[in-house]
Amino acid sequence: MPEIKWNADLYDNKHSFVSKYGEDLIGWLQPQEDERILDLGCGTGLLANEIRNYGADVIGIDNSLEMVAKAKAAYPQIRFEVRNATDFTFAEKFDAVFSNAVLHWINESAKVVACVYNALAPGGRFVMEMGGKGNNKSIMGAIKKAMVDEGLADKIVADFWYFPSVAEYTALLEAHGFTVRQVLYFDRDTELMGEDGMADWIKMFSSFLFKNISTKQAETIIAKTVDHLKDRHYKNGKWYADYVRLRVKAIRN
Ligand code: BEZ
Repeated sequence: MPEIKWNADLYDNKHSFVSKYGEDLIGWLQPQEDERILDLGCGTGLLANEIRNYGADVIGIDNSLEMVAKAKAAYPQIRFEVRNATDFTFAEKFDAVFSNAVLHWINESAKVVACVYNALAPGGRFVMEMGGKGNNKSIMGAIKKAMVDEGLADKIVADFWYFPSVAEYTALLEAHGFTVRQVLYFDRDTELMGEDGMADWIKMFSSFLFKNISTKQAETIIAKTVDHLKDRHYKNGKWYADYVRLRVKAIRN
């Protein structure tokens, strides 16, 4: 995971779509009363709270101190902890592990899947959604083009996101003792908030791409990128990101 300082307020105010779409994923989880459910990468806790509203006993974990602090303040009745998705363990087993829009930040996917397996009781379910193969391709292409055009090609940072294909991720799950029961791979152009939606999105999620250049150069790159994307990503006064989603439900053997 890159060094990203998550801004929990900005995340909630301008990127609330992350949690909004997650509510649909809860339909795949179908939480039951008194089930023990782990929200892996819980962010500011909104979805953990939704799951709790079904009567489940939820624990939320996230590796951002700031996100966890905000989650605790907003939902004091839920247990939230700062934990790393690649090396967490719990004494008691969970009936389900849920994860929304998080796992593409973690390249060590085998470690994550192994931790999820160990956290689940036999027959427990892993329900997750993340960026799939081709996610944000157009936005990333535009940032790189702007850097090349500005003579900054040698400063381009390779993006590190993990956007697996269906074949890759289901093979990973099967290799780690899961049976895959449901998969969905789909385009979801995602509306960004406000007139500066695309620039805000780039600043929030892609700032690591600018670590080799000055703040001023980054501002120029963002402005050029936004300009370049306008034709394809700005419609009827709204910005859209070219998200591709991979959604999976798998059962621990
Ligand atoms: C995503 O949800 O697909 C995503 C968000 C920010 C950066 C990369 C991917």
